[in-house]
Amino acid sequence: MRCIFLLCLLVSMGFSATLKGNHVERNNVAEKASHQARNPVDDVIRDALEIVRQLMLNGTAATPILDPFFVEYLLVNFESPDANLILQIDNTWVTHMAEFIIDNISTNMVRLTMELALSLPNFNIDGHYAMDGILLNLFPLYGSGSYYIHVFDVSLGGGAGLSMGVPPQIRDLHLDFTFQSLEVKFDNLLGGGSLEALIETVINELAKEVVDAIWAIINEPFCQLIEDQINQALANMGGEGSELAVIPDSKEVGNANAYLDEVLAELRQVLYQTPGIDPKTLPDAYTEISGGHAAIYNGWLIGLSSIHRSADATLDYAGRFIMFNGSAGYSNMQAGYRVQVEVWGTGPDAEAFALIRSVDFFFSFKIDAITGAVTVNDFNIYNIGQIDVEINGLAPFDWAFESIAELIIKTIKDDLAQTISSVILELLRQVVEGNPPPPPPQAAKILQIKF
Ligand SMILES: *[C@@H]1O[C@H](CO)[C@@H](O)[C@H](O)[C@H]1NC(C)=O
Ligand SMILES: *[C@@H]1O[C@H](CO)[C@@H](O)[C@H](O)[C@H]1NC(C)=O
Ligand SMILES: *[C@@H]1O[C@H](CO)[C@@H](O)[C@H](O)[C@H]1NC(C)=O
Repeated sequence: MRCIFLLCLLVSMGFSATLKGNHVERNNVAEKASHQARNPVDDVIRDALEIVRQLMLNGTAATPILDPFFVEYLLVNFESPDANLILQIDNTWVTHMAEFIIDNISTNMVRLTMELALSLPNFNIDGHYAMDGILLNLFPLYGSGSYYIHVFDVSLGGGAGLSMGVPPQIRDLHLDFTFQSLEVKFDNLLGGGSLEALIETVINELAKEVVDAIWAIINEPFCQLIEDQINQALANMGGEGSELAVIPDSKEVGNANAYLDEVLAELRQVLYQTPGIDPKTLPDAYTEISGGHAAIYNGWLIGLSSIHRSADATLDYAGRFIMFNGSAGYSNMQAGYRVQVEVWGTGPDAEAFALIRSVDFFFSFKIDAITGAVTVNDFNIYNIGQIDVEINGLAPFDWAFESIAELIIKTIKDDLAQTISSVILELLRQVVEGNPPPPPPQAAKILQIKF
């Protein structure tokens, strides 16, 4: 009796459930290159996506109509420890796919990538189903009739490769599909004993599989349509057959001071936060003086994180490789040492201070526009300026001042040269790698041409 009552309930109300979860993970491609101006290619792609929207509704010779999209037949085999079900769906319509929102388009001319983030507040799957199976190896679960699955808060995030040829093109577009929640209803679902909670869970899981299976069918023509439309738009960018669509190999040099300033601003942070750099310890050293020796120890150097640009910087876009040349350096860094003098077995402990007025170095980096890799092409320290030394407490060995000051200056210079050519240069290289330069000015000019 009770059993019959439950069946009636299921028949009359159908089955509905809501799935929460499957949280969307924002594809956080931590793009540190905030200095990068908005790219005109992005606008071309944005317009192409609006055409994609229309073509989803209209269809093309190569692509079926995607909104509404018709699924004639699909079989889903569901197996879990709790359930064994076969679901057949047919005459199913998928609607509202064309109502996507363009959240973000971001092309990177150095990494040669395009990233795309679309969202869809909701889309619907409606059709007819037939199901047969068993729960807990015991209770039959079956039915046939109408069903729907409503999918909410969908995110489509992905990307493509970008080749800056003639014309520029994207390739290998992929989109990852995630959603936040589902609303599910299967009419005339019968059986299952009194396992309502289990039925709910199983139906939700089953609905997820249906959604994934349907997305798998739509994904390919959808990505193909997007890729074709974007490539067509990119091909038309400079006008028909126009050389202007080409991003030329350029020997023309753009002024890159603003870019270097931003790179150095980040480098200062990195240097400041890296232990052992600012302040930095200086090595001990030792020199003979007449009748004995002088040793310097407990050395320190303050200021390595205060790096700044010291001359004009240039970016030279030459085909695959971008040459980034610049100069950076320091002014008024400070250093100090304890000084121990020993002549005939006796001598004072003194204290030395040094002011390093200026240090400047030139670097030339080669940036591979395809891989984003940055290599050092050239480097030299072209200036280590005057270093003023003051020693307190040396008396009565003031005659040794010059030797000790020379020792201090030489030790500081050697250590600076060593540190800048290794640690500082490498950290600078890493910061450049993490902050690709802006696109070439020619490209920006070309891409603004009306079409
Ligand atoms: C768009 O994507 C880029 C690169 O992934 C990212 O830096 C930027 O913050 C995103 N913008 C928005 C509005 O999400
Ligand atoms: C889609 O079809 C409509 C109506 O036939 C038409 O006006 C529109 O131009 C078509 N869109 C595209 C992109 O072909
Ligand atoms: C950049 O530096 C390299 C290596 O020193 C040099 O060959 C090249 O001419 C420089 N480019 C510019 C634009 O100064």
